[in-house]
Amino acid sequence: MSQDWQQLNTDVIALLKEARQNVLQKMRNPLTVAEKTNRKDLVTNVDKANEQFLIAGIRRLDPTAQVLGEEGFGDHLTSLQGRVWIVDPIDGTMNFVKQQDNFAIMIGIYQDGVGQLGYIFDVMNNVLYHGGPQLGGVWANERPVSAPADIALADGLIGASGPLVIHDVAHMQKIVHDSAGMRISGSAGIEMINIMKGETLGYISHLKPWDIAAGQVLMNTLGVQVSTIDGQPLDMLSSNLVLVATKKAQRDILQIEEDDVSL
Ligand code: IPD
Ligand code: CA
Ligand code: CA
Ligand code: CA
Repeated sequence: MSQDWQQLNTDVIALLKEARQNVLQKMRNPLTVAEKTNRKDLVTNVDKANEQFLIAGIRRLDPTAQVLGEEGFGDHLTSLQGRVWIVDPIDGTMNFVKQQDNFAIMIGIYQDGVGQLGYIFDVMNNVLYHGGPQLGGVWANERPVSAPADIALADGLIGASGPLVIHDVAHMQKIVHDSAGMRISGSAGIEMINIMKGETLGYISHLKPWDIAAGQVLMNTLGVQVSTIDGQPLDMLSSNLVLVATKKAQRDILQIEEDDVSL
């Protein structure tokens, strides 16, 4: 790994630790909560302040890079050329508001569209999952994370977003039926952590680039597959119906899509 990437990683970890402290500090006061597009799509003063804090830090570390942030304080991206940082200041805002738990701070760093480093910070458990090809592995704080077992759909639990199952989008009910069961966490970042811990074998959800940028890097580094529900690469400038799964479970799920069967 190059010296530059190693130094960048050290700096990003320091930035994220400071961001976590800021978030914990702000959680001592009442949150200001607003609806974005509907009553289930929230944003708080903490989402906004944390994105501004992170983007200011990223600009200092990497002044020529492009930055994409969910709350709009970054650049308007039209291309993935060069270095691109993708930031989700609070992933799982509904959990943040309702549970004060089960949310994450996430950063993905891409070079010419290829994931290089990923960071998912489980704030309340104080565990920072980080890694990527530039580090040659993934760590949970200082502990190396090993690749999850390559199990079939029938042999494990699958994470999903509720509406996909309710509306049976992309044969979700059949997929859940064929699995050992479904779990819903309310945060794409926490779902990635559940996969890294071997608690679930995959996750299916409609996601924006910031929901999956960090996770895609970490999953790929651990041999977990990330694609669209049709098995295609993600478009990191748009939203995707994302399938994250072990190799065997991905095969099982793509077969269900191909068979086009209903329960
Ligand atoms: C959301 C969460 C949620 C997923 C949504 C995302 P946000 O992110 O990751 O689990 O189902 O699609 O938008 O808005 O809380 O950062
Ligand atoms: Ca949001
Ligand atoms: Ca998110
Ligand atoms: Ca968010």
